[in-house]
Amino acid sequence: MKLKDTGLSAEELKAIVDKYMVETYSRFDFIAERAEGMYLYDEKGVAYLDFYGGVAVNSAGNRNPKVVEAVKDQTDDIMHTFNYPYTVPQALLAKKICDTIGMDKIFFQNSGTEANECMIKMARKYGVETYGPEHYHIVTAKNGFHGRTYGALSATGQPDNACQEGFKPMLPGFSYAEFNNLEDFKSKVTDNTIAIMIEPVQGEGGVHPATQEFMEGLRKLCDERGMLLLLDEVQTGWGRTGSVMAYMGYGVKPDCVTMAKAMGGGMPIGACCATEKVAKALNSGSHGSTYGGHPVACAASLASITEILDNHLSENAEEMGAYLRERLAELPHIKEVRGRGLLTGCEYDIPIALEVKWACFRRHLLITAIGDSTNRLIPPLTLSKEHVDQAVETMKDAVAEAAMKYEEENMRKSA
Ligand SMILES: Cc1ncc(COP(=O)(O)O)c(C=O)c1O
Repeated sequence: MKLKDTGLSAEELKAIVDKYMVETYSRFDFIAERAEGMYLYDEKGVAYLDFYGGVAVNSAGNRNPKVVEAVKDQTDDIMHTFNYPYTVPQALLAKKICDTIGMDKIFFQNSGTEANECMIKMARKYGVETYGPEHYHIVTAKNGFHGRTYGALSATGQPDNACQEGFKPMLPGFSYAEFNNLEDFKSKVTDNTIAIMIEPVQGEGGVHPATQEFMEGLRKLCDERGMLLLLDEVQTGWGRTGSVMAYMGYGVKPDCVTMAKAMGGGMPIGACCATEKVAKALNSGSHGSTYGGHPVACAASLASITEILDNHLSENAEEMGAYLRERLAELPHIKEVRGRGLLTGCEYDIPIALEVKWACFRRHLLITAIGDSTNRLIPPLTLSKEHVDQAVETMKDAVAEAAMKYEEENMRKSA
């Protein structure tokens, strides 16, 4: 749908949003009408360079032609049936994913948070049925992020964050340990702990990659204590960090892993994969979803992951990610550039991340801010060096502008 076909002006459309929608988002002030490859276009046809990727979703490129074709083909045949009959896209996608990432079983959901609900439920049921009714405790990482439904929110170790404020009490059965601190994780494990759950790279928490020793240490700890290693790869999965799944890059296999975002190529889908042993916990009637495994979303997902695999986009993420980090180090006020593949964070020595985000937007570059001092860059994995150069040059101006504003503000306050 395009604005010109509605008879409304942009301001009138935004007024409708203000009047009728529950607004929890701080929006970029433009109407996204069209997308292609590395760019979004507004209602006037202005192009925005996309280092946001629909929040790490459009990894195979915005509106990837193969994904679009798959959606069109599938809608011509059947759109929705619920999960009683078999459908072709579901079966083919299940096989493709499990074979590619070395997992035995998959359960389809509609989003990242739901995928994590499934993983938490699977682990808790496995624990209770294997070891007894008290065995449902899970240790997760401080500063992690797992979603906004109650199980996933309770697993999110950010008690002071707006996403938890006003929603307490959280679900019992979770404790939180310092990310990348194996000793702290060990100290939080009790006789009733059934699993450890982390993101291989904390995305929303500021782009903090797990160290190799930490990942290996958690696997060993889980093996020694009969616990499960649960990985949330909603953001890191399907090429983002330079390997198909981030765990494949670490060479550390989890018992369960979740995915969403890039998996769907722009259609809403998520999934939880598990080894046979753990997956068995979910049996007939114990879990379900009206839309989970939706034929159109599965067809899109099959096309999206096939594009990611066939075009070696994880390799491009590795190469371009290294180049991006190298170039970001040239920005003024850089304290640290972190990341893995194309999940990139740049932290400044002053709290200007939000201002940098808006200054980039005014220059038609889309990036995110996480916290006061860190910008996150999560572009489609199809990008080239030219896109990196264009983004970094824009950011140089944006950082200079934001830093000047910050310094002027400080001078005003101290005058
Ligand atoms: C690591 C991680 N887990 C879970 C989620 C929640 O996914 P969704 O917004 O699809 O529910 C996100 C979203 O950003 C995420 O980054």
